[in-house]
Order: sequence, then C-alpha cells, then structure tokens
Amino acid sequence: MSTATEKTMLENRIRELEFLKGRLERERTSLEGELIASQKEVVGLKCSMAEMSSASAGLRAELESLQRHLTNEKADTARLRNDVSVATAEIQDLQARLRQEETQRRLLHNTVQELKGNIRVFCRIRPIIPSDKMPGGKIAHLNVLHDNSMNAPASGKGPSKFEFNFDRVFGPNATQQQVFDEISQLIQSALDGYNVCIFAYGQTGSGKTFTMEGGTAGSETDGMIPRSVRLIFAACESLRAKGWAYKIEASFLEIYNEQIRDLLGPSGGVHDIRIVNNETVVTNLKNEQQVQNLLARAQQQRAVASTSCNEHSSRSHSVLRLKLTGVNADTAETSNGLYMVDLAGSERLKESGATGDRLTETKHINKSLSNLGNVIMALAAKESHVPYRNSKLTLLLQQALGGNAKTLMFVNISPKENCANETVNSLRFAAKVNACHIGTAMKNS
Ligand SMILES: Nc1ncnc2c1ncn2[C@@H]1O[C@H](COP(=O)(O)OP(=O)(O)OP(=O)(O)O)[C@@H](O)[C@H]1O
Ligand SMILES: [Mg+2]
Repeated sequence: MSTATEKTMLENRIRELEFLKGRLERERTSLEGELIASQKEVVGLKCSMAEMSSASAGLRAELESLQRHLTNEKADTARLRNDVSVATAEIQDLQARLRQEETQRRLLHNTVQELKGNIRVFCRIRPIIPSDKMPGGKIAHLNVLHDNSMNAPASGKGPSKFEFNFDRVFGPNATQQQVFDEISQLIQSALDGYNVCIFAYGQTGSGKTFTMEGGTAGSETDGMIPRSVRLIFAACESLRAKGWAYKIEASFLEIYNEQIRDLLGPSGGVHDIRIVNNETVVTNLKNEQQVQNLLARAQQQRAVASTSCNEHSSRSHSVLRLKLTGVNADTAETSNGLYMVDLAGSERLKESGATGDRLTETKHINKSLSNLGNVIMALAAKESHVPYRNSKLTLLLQQALGGNAKTLMFVNISPKENCANETVNSLRFAAKVNACHIGTAMKNS
C-alpha cells in the first residue's frame, strides 16, 4: 500500500472519529441537560413529599379531634334523649292534670252560672240617634238607678214611676264590649256542654239587631253574634292545649210570617253542607272568618222593611244556631247548641199604623212573641204542658228553652218619649221573665 493511500485512509478515519466525537459530545450535552432536569424534578418531588407529609399530619390531628368531638356529641345526644323522655313524661302528667283542672273549672263555672239563675234578663236602653229628633237630645223619662235597676213613667193613677229590677241594666252609653263582657261567661257555658239561648226582645227600632249583630262588621260596634263567634274560636284554640278538639257547625234560619226560611242556602261548594230536616247545616267550620262570611250572607238575605219606628226594621225572627261538639281523650264527647236569636220588633197594631203586608207581618210577629211569653211562663210554672207547638219560633227554640238550657234575654228599650207605653209593656214582660226560675240546666252528653 502506498503512503498516499495510507494517508487518505487515515484522514478518512480521523474525519469519522471527529464526526463520532461530535455526535458523542452532543449526546453528552443532551444527557447533561436531562440530568439537570431530573435533579430538579427530584428536588421538586422531595419538596412535595415534605409538604404532603406535613398536610397528612395535620389531617390526622384534625381526624383525631373530630373523633373526640363525635364521642362528646354522642354522649350529649344520649343525655338529651334522656332529658326529652323525662320532659315528655312530665308534659303528659301536666296535660292529665290540666284536663282534670279543666273538668273542675267547668263544674265551678256551672255552679256560678246556676247561682246567677238559668234564665237571666239584661235591659238595654239605646242612645238617641239623629232620626229620633228628640227635643234637647236628653232621655228625661227613663232613669238608670243602679247596675240592675231603672225606672220608667207610669201612666194613669198610682205611682208616677215604675221601678224595674233586672240582672243587669245598660244605659245608653254602654258599649258593645261592656255588654259582651257580661254575656261571655254564657258562651263559655256553651263550650262546656250546655245549651245556651241568647235572644233580644223589644219594640221595633229599640236596638235588638244592633245588639245582636252590631253596626259595621269588624268594628267597635260589632254585636254579640260576631263577638261570640270570635270568642268561641279563640277558646277552642286554647282548649286544644287542654286536650279538647271541637267541631263547629252552623245553621241560620228566619221565621217570616210563620214560614221558616233558610238564610244560608246553597253555598256554592265553599263549605261542607248537610241538609237536616230541610235545613242547611254548614259543617266543618274551621275558622272565625268562615263563620263571619256566613253571617254576612245571612244578613243580606234577611227580610227587612221600613216601619214607622225603624228605617231598617227586621220583619222576621232570626235564629242562628252554632252546634259545638267537643271531644276529649279522657271524657265522653259533649255536644250542644248556642242559639242567638234576633226577634222581630213587637209593635202595637194601633200605634204601628201598618196596613197590607206590614199589617200581616205585625200580626204574625205579635202572635209568635206572645207564644214565646206563654212558653216561658209555662216553663216557670212547671206546667206539664208547654205550648211549644203553638208557633214556629217556640218549636224551633224548644231545645234552647227550658230545663236543659241557660237562657239570656235582652230587653231592648227605645229612649223615645212617645214610645213610653210600649217601653213599659216590654219592661213588664221582661220583669215577668226575670222572675222565672227555670229548672237546673242539664249538661248534654
Ligand atoms: N246602642 C246603640 N248605639 C248606637 N246606635 C244604636 C244602638 N242601638 C240601636 N241603634 C240604632 O238604632 C236604630 C234601630 O236599631 P235596630 O235596627 O237594632 O232596632 P231593632 O230593635 O232591631 O228594630 P226592628 O225590630 O224593627 O228590627 C238603628 O239605626 C241602629 O243603628
Ligand atoms: Mg231588627
């Protein structure tokens, strides 16, 4: 081999080796880069590991604290459960005592009511109103002497004044609230299981409708009916805590010319209705507003006309019956009725100047009122026959009058001097009723 060839081979070999060297150097640089990156990664991982192990220690501590908390909570729950069962037993014991006390209260309340008499008469003189056109605007001929006595002028020979005594006399300034305060005890009796009848008697224009129904609904002038409804619902609510559940049903009838008319009629499906002996009974009354709505409907349907004494005279007797049925876990159910009656005005035919329809109405009104008087007198005299059947009014009130009921009569009096004769008539009738002692009321069960 020639030297030139050898040199060429060696030069090729050197180039190859240099190429190889270059490649190896690039590889080395790349590997060094990778090594640095890996070293950085290792440092990063070590950091994360340190962080995670400290986090894990924190979590472990938190878990231990939660476990301690849970153990404490469990102990508390067990203690509370025990307290609750002790309290429940105490509540049951108190409720039983409350029911016993409620029974005691009912007995005592009834004793007080019996001592006051099962038929009571309250007299109310209405104030002068603009249409009375009274000279001087003063009531000169009637005097309230005391809470329970008054006098009125006598005509003819003998004393110049008659004195009358009643269970209560309300003067012209008495408010509806003051009057209601005196009757609210009777509403309680109705809830306690007695039949109660409250009725307003008196001449046309003397304030019967004002006393029973009142003026503008929902105002201070609300009468005995809306106030009683309010009291009943409030009392039912508080009696619920004493273990009583009440069912309230209502019917509202009027007697016009000896015919019974239903003031509630079909209700358009708003309330549950039963027809009992052709009479609408609205059942399932849940709140005061429902009853007040029924009263407003009845009021619209009532027969009203103008008489010489009253622009809006009621020409019918209206009878609202609220049936209250109370059920108690310990005792039997008690069921009874609260009757609230707004009678048509008594009016003497001669003085009424009535003709035509008004005359027929007045005759019917007077006849049924005198029958009512006969029934009360027969009950007072303990006669074997009580003439309930003589008029629709007394027939309808049969349950509400007599031995099984507590009765309150309002005798409403007009302040007008030209009504003085009629006033004395009403007062005499009322005084006769006041003198009655009608048996002892028996509780319904
Ligand atoms: N205590 C009172 N306070 C204010 N106004 C009263 C009072 N009592 C009655 N009135 C008013 O006297 C008028 C006659 O009363 P009401 O209509 O109640 O008589 P009534 O006895 O029902 O008569 P009727 O038998 O003719 O129906 C009404 O305008 C009524 O608002
Ligand atoms: Mg009236």
